[in-house]
Amino acid sequence: FAFTSANQAWAEAQITKYPEGRQASAIIPLLWRAQEQEGWLSRPAIEHVAEMLGMAYIRALEVATFYFMFQLQPVGSVAHIQICGTTSCMICGAEDLIGVCKEKIAPKPHQLSADGKFSWEEVECLGACANAPMAQIGKDYYEDLTAKRMGEIIDGLANGQVPTPGPQNGRYAAEPLKGLT
Ligand code: FES
Repeated sequence: FAFTSANQAWAEAQITKYPEGRQASAIIPLLWRAQEQEGWLSRPAIEHVAEMLGMAYIRALEVATFYFMFQLQPVGSVAHIQICGTTSCMICGAEDLIGVCKEKIAPKPHQLSADGKFSWEEVECLGACANAPMAQIGKDYYEDLTAKRMGEIIDGLANGQVPTPGPQNGRYAAEPLKGLT
């Protein structure tokens, strides 16, 4: 693995933001840039970042495995779908959404679909519990999902569309409370 020259220069600039001896603090932005470049974090990519930061590979791997935002195996070329399976979403139908992913993408999490375009996984709470069940696709949240809508979103993405993120049932933020302005 090697960063592109532009990414290498960007990464080196990040490292200079931290005091001498604290370069390891730049690990998350560097891992993120490596993932943006490659689509996922391979072992050579993590090793490269660790080496740049003067860290042991195992310490960099610990960070990469802690956050759901980092993918340690190849993901779908069009979308990697992260279904929240924690309490609120589980009660409100996460299993149904997972069922759609199993049917339309692949039977197991982190498996690529036959055409390589999609992958999925179940993740822990993504902090949008009031809008359960929900899923994260790329950097966007899709909330108030149903199995039907999940299927439509996957079909839309497969056809080159980008379904509008946010609430999927027409609900938007309530009117501002009167008397507070
Ligand atoms: Fe699903 Fe919190 S439980 S977003």
